[in-house]
Amino acid sequence: MTVPRQAAPTKFSSSTGLVGRTRVPGDKSISHRALLLGAVSEGDTWITNLLRSRDTEATVDAVEALGAQVSEGGDGVVRVLGSGWSGLSEPDDVIDVRNSGTLLRLLPGILASCPFLAMLTGDASIRRRPVDRILLPLREMGADIRARGKDTLPPLVTSGRDLRSIEYRMHIASAQVKSCLLLAGLRADGQTTIHEPMQSRDHTERMLAAAGVEIRTEREDENGVCVKVQASAQLDLQRVLVPGDFSSAAFLILASLLVPDSEITIEGVGMNPTRTALLDVLQSMGADITVNMSDRNDIEPQGTIVSRTSELTAVDIGGPDVAPLIDELPVWLLAAARSQGVSHLRDAGELRVKETDRLRGMAALLRALGVDIEDTEDGLNVHGRPQGWSSGSVSSLGDHRLAMVGAVAGLAADSYVLVDDVGCADISFPGFVDIIERLSLHNGG
Ligand code: S3P
Repeated sequence: MTVPRQAAPTKFSSSTGLVGRTRVPGDKSISHRALLLGAVSEGDTWITNLLRSRDTEATVDAVEALGAQVSEGGDGVVRVLGSGWSGLSEPDDVIDVRNSGTLLRLLPGILASCPFLAMLTGDASIRRRPVDRILLPLREMGADIRARGKDTLPPLVTSGRDLRSIEYRMHIASAQVKSCLLLAGLRADGQTTIHEPMQSRDHTERMLAAAGVEIRTEREDENGVCVKVQASAQLDLQRVLVPGDFSSAAFLILASLLVPDSEITIEGVGMNPTRTALLDVLQSMGADITVNMSDRNDIEPQGTIVSRTSELTAVDIGGPDVAPLIDELPVWLLAAARSQGVSHLRDAGELRVKETDRLRGMAALLRALGVDIEDTEDGLNVHGRPQGWSSGSVSSLGDHRLAMVGAVAGLAADSYVLVDDVGCADISFPGFVDIIERLSLHNGG
C-alpha cells in the first residue's frame, strides 16, 4: 500500500484484521475556524493540534495574505498573531482557497466589512460549488459582493462596507452559511439572528463564546435552532485545543466494523454532539462501538472510541438525520452496502454540491463492488450485500472522502480494490494510508 508520487491507482487488499490504538489528525472544521478567528483577534492565539492538511494550508496562506502571522510555536503548537479587524489589509493577489469549501464560505463573512478589495477563487471543484447561499444574506446586510455566473459561482469579489444586523431564515441547514453570517454579524450594528431548519455543527458558536462574544442558541421546534450574536469589537481567543477529527475517525471505525477479527481504539476524538450522529446510526444497525468521554474540559468535548467487527442490518436515513451526518454519508453508504436488507437514503440533495456529486460518486463506487444500487433524485437505495464484494477499480473523482471510502472497501473486499488517487486524502486526513497499514500490521497482516 505505498502511495505513488504520481496519481496512479493504489491497491487496497482484503485485510485479515485491524488491531491497535491510534489517534487521528486535528479536526478540519475547528482548525479553519481557529486560524480565521485568530487572524481577527488582538495578539496571540495558540492552537494545539492544528490540522496541517491541504485544505487548512489554504487557510494559513489566506490569513497571511491578509496580514496575520502564522508560525510554529514549538511542541506542536501553532501561533497566530493578529492585530484585530483593523490589522487586516488588502491582499496583493487573488486568494486561492484550493479545494476548501469551508474557507470559500467563511472568509467572505470576515471580508464583507473590511475596507478593501479581495478576490477568492479555487480549484475546478470549488469553481462548481454554489456561493449564492452566502451572497444573498450578506447583501441583505449591506455587503458589496459579486460572483461569476450571475452571482452563483466562484470566483467572487468583496469590497468592504458597513454592515447592518439582520434576521435571516436559512432554507438549508449549513454550518458554512451560518458561520459566514455569524462572522459578518460581529461587525454589524446590533444583534444578528439566524434561524436554521436543523442544527448543523456548532464549532463557530462555541469558539466565539470562548473569545468573549455574546452569542446564544435557542431551540425553536423539534429540529430547528435560532442563533443570536451581538456585534463585538474585539475577540480574545488566546488558546484552542483542536480534538481529533471525528470525520477522519469515521473511516477507521468503518474499516474495523467491516474487516473480520478487528478491534481498534481511537483516542482524542472530537465528540461534539453536532458531529457524532454516525455513532448512533451505526449502533442502531448493530455496530459494536463504545465511547469513553474524556473529563478534559475545553471548548470542544473529546473521547476515546473502541470499535469491533460487527454484523450490520439496514436502516433508513432521511429528513433531520441528514444534516448531522452530512460528511459521514459516504461512510454510512458503505456500511449500508455491507448490511442485511435494503437501506434508503432520502433528502440528501446537498451531497450533489460537495467536493463532487457524492451521490453519483458513491453509486459508481458501490456498483464497482457488485452492490445493487438505485438512484433517486435526492438519495440512493442500497441493496446490502453482506458477503462477496467483487474486486474493482474505483474513482475518487479527486474527492478525499470518496478516496478513503474506496480504500476501506478494499480492506473489506474479498480480494482487492484499486483507488485511482488516494493521495487526495491529504485534503483532510494526512497519514491515512500509514495508519491503516500500522493497524493491519499489528494483526500480523
Ligand atoms: C463544514 C460544514 C459542512 C461540511 C463541510 C465542513 C464546516 O458543509 O460538509 O465539510 O466546517 O462548516 P455545509 O455547511 O455546506 O453543509
